[in-house]
Amino acid sequence: MAQEGSEPELKKPVIVLAFISIGLVYSTMLIGVFLSSGSLTKKGIACTEWPLCPNGFGAPEDHYLMEYVHRVVAAVTAAVVYATAVAVPLWARRAKKAAVIAAAIVSAQVILGLLTVLTTLHPLVVATHLSTGITLFAFGLLAFWWAGIWKRH
Ligand code: HEM
Repeated sequence: MAQEGSEPELKKPVIVLAFISIGLVYSTMLIGVFLSSGSLTKKGIACTEWPLCPNGFGAPEDHYLMEYVHRVVAAVTAAVVYATAVAVPLWARRAKKAAVIAAAIVSAQVILGLLTVLTTLHPLVVATHLSTGITLFAFGLLAFWWAGIWKRH
């Protein structure tokens, strides 16, 4: 196994993927906080079904548009976080560990999203959903950082 400091650099597409991961997590969080501000939904939950809203794959109705967008962006985010965990090679030990932890956290976050809906915004579930989102961002950032971007400069 390669020694710390003597590792070959990760390929650029892996670093870009790790960056897209944190960009998507950030965007999902932004939409989530926008949702919880209740600016569109007047607080409360408009789409009480799972996993899709009543429109299925069709055009969403206005009153649950942002909830629908949050779910779609979250699904894409989870896919990219998983892809990052797979793409980071084993020899990049710290980056791999952080990316795999991020993948585990995103799975928990999707389940918490489901519970957020099923419990119609139980405060404890919403609070856990928010803090898990922040933890997910932290591990995504670590994976990106440890992917070796700083060594380039
Ligand atoms: C990558 C995955 C996800 C991330 C990072 C994420 C992040 C967030 C964040 C940061 C909030 C704001 C919480 C607050 O301000 O208290 C939020 C709200 C919310 N999320 Fe997610 N979320 C994800 C997936 C999901 C999924 C799959 C669902 C399932 C429907 C979901 C349902 C909700 C709902 C309903 C709210 C609004 C809560 C409220 O009105 O207070 N989330 N999300």
